[in-house]
Amino acid sequence: MEINAVEFDKIAREVFAPVYPVIAEQIKHKTGIIRGTCLDIGCGGGYLGIAMAGITELDVYLFDASQEMLKIAAGNIAGRGLEQRIQTLPGDVHKIPLDDNSIDLVISRGSVFFWRDRQKAFQEIHRVLKPGGVAFIGGGFGTTALKEQITSVMEKRNNNWREKLKKNIGENAVEGFAETLRKAEISPFEIDRNEAGLWIIIRRESF
Ligand SMILES: C[S@@+](CC[C@H](N)C(=O)[O-])C[C@H]1O[C@@H](n2cnc3c(N)ncnc32)[C@H](O)[C@@H]1O
Repeated sequence: MEINAVEFDKIAREVFAPVYPVIAEQIKHKTGIIRGTCLDIGCGGGYLGIAMAGITELDVYLFDASQEMLKIAAGNIAGRGLEQRIQTLPGDVHKIPLDDNSIDLVISRGSVFFWRDRQKAFQEIHRVLKPGGVAFIGGGFGTTALKEQITSVMEKRNNNWREKLKKNIGENAVEGFAETLRKAEISPFEIDRNEAGLWIIIRRESF
């Protein structure tokens, strides 16, 4: 994936910053997972994983395919003195460099839209989840007010912004994700979509 890490991070800090704590609270509320290990896939600068660590006791891996993004994430960890709780992990979601049954909570915001083979990626996510673990994957803004606030900034930079949002997190995206999850033989899953975002919740059942 072609991405300018420095430019992307500037936007994350200047425009998207308010969404991370809101989404982290929603993940905590929805999953109830507050202890153990969390994997933030396609973490970028790491803001969602860092927000998650701030409101839970979770230890966090900030995982991304881009070394440049991970450099920024490492700076954010060190800048907050969180080295004991959070570490970076390089790699691709299609081959996650972690053991089976090792992660309590997988989170991922804004990355799934770039994955080459989502079926394989979801299988990998399911593989690393512990029994009883949960994955919360998708894209969104936390609230419709934040979505509108961010859209008013982003559509000035990108003419196709609203179109891209519709394609990625619009109503029509739900069936595509459901079909992929069924093909991946992942069960149970839930797709929670509203105007503020689209999130896939996968629960790995206990033995
Ligand atoms: C739009 S950014 C979102 C960053 C961050 N989650 C956020 O919300 O600010 C997408 C991220 O996904 C990462 N990514 C894309 N494909 C990936 C893959 N196959 N494996 C791991 N990370 C990937 C990119 O490097 C990028 O950092």
